[in-house]
Parts: sequence; structure tokens; C-alpha cells
Amino acid sequence: MTQSTSTYIHGTSEEEQKRLSLMNDVLLNRESLAEMHLRGDEHIIDFGSGLGQFTRAMARAVPRGRVVGIERDPVQLATARRLADAEGEGSLVEWRQDDALELKSAKADDWGSFDVAHTRFLLEHLPDPVGVVKSMLASLKRGGRIVIADDDHGAMRLWPEPPGFSDLWMSYIRSYDRIGNDPYVGRRLVQLIHEAGGKPVRNRWIFFGGCAGMDAFPVLTANMWGVLRTARETMIGMHLCDAGTFEAVENAYAAWSRRPDAAIWFAMSWAEGVKP
Ligand SMILES: C[S@@+](CC[C@H](N)C(=O)[O-])C[C@H]1O[C@@H](n2cnc3c(N)ncnc32)[C@H](O)[C@@H]1O
Repeated sequence: MTQSTSTYIHGTSEEEQKRLSLMNDVLLNRESLAEMHLRGDEHIIDFGSGLGQFTRAMARAVPRGRVVGIERDPVQLATARRLADAEGEGSLVEWRQDDALELKSAKADDWGSFDVAHTRFLLEHLPDPVGVVKSMLASLKRGGRIVIADDDHGAMRLWPEPPGFSDLWMSYIRSYDRIGNDPYVGRRLVQLIHEAGGKPVRNRWIFFGGCAGMDAFPVLTANMWGVLRTARETMIGMHLCDAGTFEAVENAYAAWSRRPDAAIWFAMSWAEGVKP
């Protein structure tokens, strides 16, 4: 695997797109946005903007600013545009089809002029995340802020644990290693900013869990299972699990998710730095 390639194991099926939408709307965007403390006039660039809900949330928060979304996948980008149009926000974000590993945008006039470079859930899908963090810093003006958020899959705890879940989760983690990506990239975020030449200034956990009794719990449990379901073929293809085991854990998880004492303990790693 070279730096110029990367594998996004969840794909772009309609089901996966629904999962990302739910996760965005219900679980993470408000807290992610609050952490950014935007003034309202920043020029922001979002790397791996996906379906664009958070990109648009940032754009709404900077009415006197401007937001560019960079996304490699044409299917994701088409859906992002459709969702934006459907909500009357067709011109809120400038969408660019581009690969964060081989940026055409690096030749654009606005390169080196952004106030904030943001990325979320992209670095975990890349074999060389530091290269992208360097590009993010290059997109900024001096003193600009870099904000990166990503998963540390080792942080996941379910209780009472559904039988077989830990083993299946470990298989999922191993599928990252097999394709050269880092399932624990979340714990490296501060180091990545430093290594890329930025100055780290802050890190946080953003809670990404919940428990029975919360309105959002069904969405959360569906999202967590969706993470595994969309990686099922990859895991089976790599002989990290078999179809029978997957199905048994799926049934155990479904029963667990209806328990009155079920809880997911998980958090997203979040770090901020500045361009010296
Ligand atoms: C899990 S999604 C996250 C989307 C969004 N940042 C969010 O938080 O909702 C990751 C996105 O990164 C995109 N992606 C993966 N590799 C990329 C690359 N090399 N350059 C640009 N986008 C990439 C995928 O197509 C996908 O849409």
C-alpha cells in the first residue's frame, strides 16, 4: 500500500449513507461544533467531508465566512450535494472532488489562506495520516487552526457485554491493520499535529456513547452495528471471522440493544493545533 492509495472499508451503499447521516444528525455535530469556538467569519476547509452534514453545520456557524469541502468519492459528493439542495443549502459549501493524498486543490489560489482546516473520521482510513495533516497545515495561513477528530477503537466498551462482541470488534480492528490503516489513530492526534509541523494546543474526548433510556440510544446502537455490518464482507474476505460467527454476534447484539441496562462507553478523540 503506497501513500497515494487508501481503502475506505465502509463503502458508499445507501445503507451506509443513512448510517452516517443518523450519526451526524443525532450524535456528534452539536458537541463537535461547540468545541470549535468559531467566531463567524472564518474560512474553513474540511478534508474528507463525506455527506457534508458537519461541513454544512460549520458553514452555518460562519455566516461571514466561507467553507470548502474536499471529498474523494463522487458518490458521496453527489449525495452531499443532493442533501444540501434538498435543505435549500445548495450554495452554502463549495464542494471539491479531490483526493486528500494527491491534492489538486494545493494548486488553487486559496491554498495557504484558510483560517481553519478540519477533518473528522478520515485519518483512520489512511495508511499515512501525517501526510494529510501536513497538507491540512499547508492549506492554512500562519496562525490558522487545525482541528482533527478520529476514532480510537480500543476505547469501545459495551456492558453487559453481548456474547462474542469483543472478539468480533477485535476482528474489525485487525481489518484496519491488514489494509495498512491505524485503528488507534485517535490516541495519536496530538503527535500527528506535532509531527506534521503544527503546534498542538488542546485535546478532548467527545463522548460518543449512551445508554438504555436515552432517546438517541436506538440510533447509537444501530450506528455501532452499522460500523460492523458495512465491514462484514471485508472481515470475512480476510478470514478474520466467518459468516456464522458474525450472525451469532449480530443476534446477541440485537437482544442486548433492547436490554434496560445496556450501555455503550465510547468517545471520539479530538485535537487542535495552530500553524506556527
Ligand atoms: C467516515 S466518512 C466521514 C465524513 C465526515 N467527515 C463526517 O465526519 O461525517 C470518511 C469520508 O472520507 C472520504 N475519504 C476517504 N479517503 C479519502 C481521501 N483520500 N481523500 C478525500 N476523501 C477521502 C470517504 O469517501 C468518506 O466520505
